[in-house]
Amino acid sequence: MNRYAVVLAAGQGTRMKSKLYKVLHPVCGKPMVEHVVDQLNALELKNVVTVVGHGAEMVSEQLGKRSEYVLQEEQLGTAHAVMQAKDILSDQDGVTLVVCGDTPLITKDTMDSLLSYHEEQNAKATILTAKADNPFGYGRIIRDENGSVQRIVEQKDANEAEQNVTEINTGTYCFDNKTLFETLQLVNNENSQGEYYLPDVVEILQQQGEVVAAYQTADFNETMGVNDRVALSRAEQAMKKRINEKHMRNGVTLIDPDATYISPDATIGQDSVIYPGTTISGEVVIGDETVIGPNSEIKDSKVGSKSVVKQSVVHNSDVGNDVTIGPFAHVRPSSEIHDGVKIGNFVEVKKSVMGEGSKASHLSYIGDAEIGKEVNLGCGSITVNYDGKNKYLTKVEDGAFIGCNVNLIAPVNVGKGAFVAAGSTITDDVPEQALSIARSRQTNKEDYASKSNDN
Ligand code: UD1
Ligand code: CA
Repeated sequence: MNRYAVVLAAGQGTRMKSKLYKVLHPVCGKPMVEHVVDQLNALELKNVVTVVGHGAEMVSEQLGKRSEYVLQEEQLGTAHAVMQAKDILSDQDGVTLVVCGDTPLITKDTMDSLLSYHEEQNAKATILTAKADNPFGYGRIIRDENGSVQRIVEQKDANEAEQNVTEINTGTYCFDNKTLFETLQLVNNENSQGEYYLPDVVEILQQQGEVVAAYQTADFNETMGVNDRVALSRAEQAMKKRINEKHMRNGVTLIDPDATYISPDATIGQDSVIYPGTTISGEVVIGDETVIGPNSEIKDSKVGSKSVVKQSVVHNSDVGNDVTIGPFAHVRPSSEIHDGVKIGNFVEVKKSVMGEGSKASHLSYIGDAEIGKEVNLGCGSITVNYDGKNKYLTKVEDGAFIGCNVNLIAPVNVGKGAFVAAGSTITDDVPEQALSIARSRQTNKEDYASKSNDN
């Protein structure tokens, strides 16, 4: 059977009290709606249609080609939102999942089970429900004495008895597609909020004698809806726990999972160890037996196996195997750190290649540089890559030795195996195997101090 999905993401999210549209608020570094759409894309669906309104451009830019978009110009309620997908979906045979963009913890497995249950039950509509310790704010599932679902009543429309119901509407449903769009036309807005409620479709179908099913998930956390920042922090906690436990089960040691922040799009190899205070964000791949942290930040980067990154920052870069970075180093975007490299304390690397086995052990700036293999960059050596207007390249070829406190004024080339004496300021290319000294000679004025004291 063909499967489709509609993601509701047009609301402003007033309760967030934010300039940022609700569904773009990140959970573990990734916007809520993106979590939802990525889970949907892991299912085999013919179309994923996201209903956008507030922040439409930002939402569609964030999700890109992962979804199609329809615009809900005025936010008249969730039923009205789904209606906007009519032109794309109403003629299709099959089943449509409807998911809210503010339920970031929902998983593809649960949605898959919901779809299977819906098909087994031959239902026209199936609601994903959950038991909530504190159901406040959610729509409640009202069942008859036989346990069949009658309708869903919103918090604001619920009487006292209804408010005591703890089974909630998670905001995820599936519907026979054609039935959905036919029934949406019958929904009215006669309720306390004056909105067209999607859950009203359930009552209409029930009254028409159609099969309406409910699939209760055991894990309330997974269905949590985020309407304010308190719920946002709970979602963050739950997502963090889920991600961290996944890595631990895969063979990664997290010394203190509560103080370890890993993006949902990170892969970490076996026997790697992550120390507290570490943030791994965006798309990151880390190999086996690598140690990260404490207090490190890895973003959109690759780090190989058996490497160590401590008290350091690595952004948008590629780090090889057996590399040591830190403590207190900064690898900035577009850097390639090859196998066996050492980047020690107070070293900054930007848009540079460090060839295999090269070392910058202390206090260096390496920017716009191509450093060959087995190069030694002495303490305090720097590339002078910027003249206030333009950036220039520095090249240091294999096996060269750059002494302490050397300025390499770019554009400049140091040939293979060359030596540059400590304290030199290099403005011209250094040939292969040469020794270059570029500093004034030392003069000692004998007895200078005692003579000046005599005056
Ligand atoms: C909704 C459900 C409630 C359920 C809860 C689960 C309705 C009427 N109520 O309530 O039964 O328990 O979700 O989390 O559906 N949206 C639009 N266009 C609109 C209105 C909303 O796209 O016109 C989007 C919002 O951006 C949001 C989602 O739909 O992502 C849900 O809307 P929200 O206002 O958060 O509904 P709840 O009050 O949480
Ligand atoms: Ca909500």
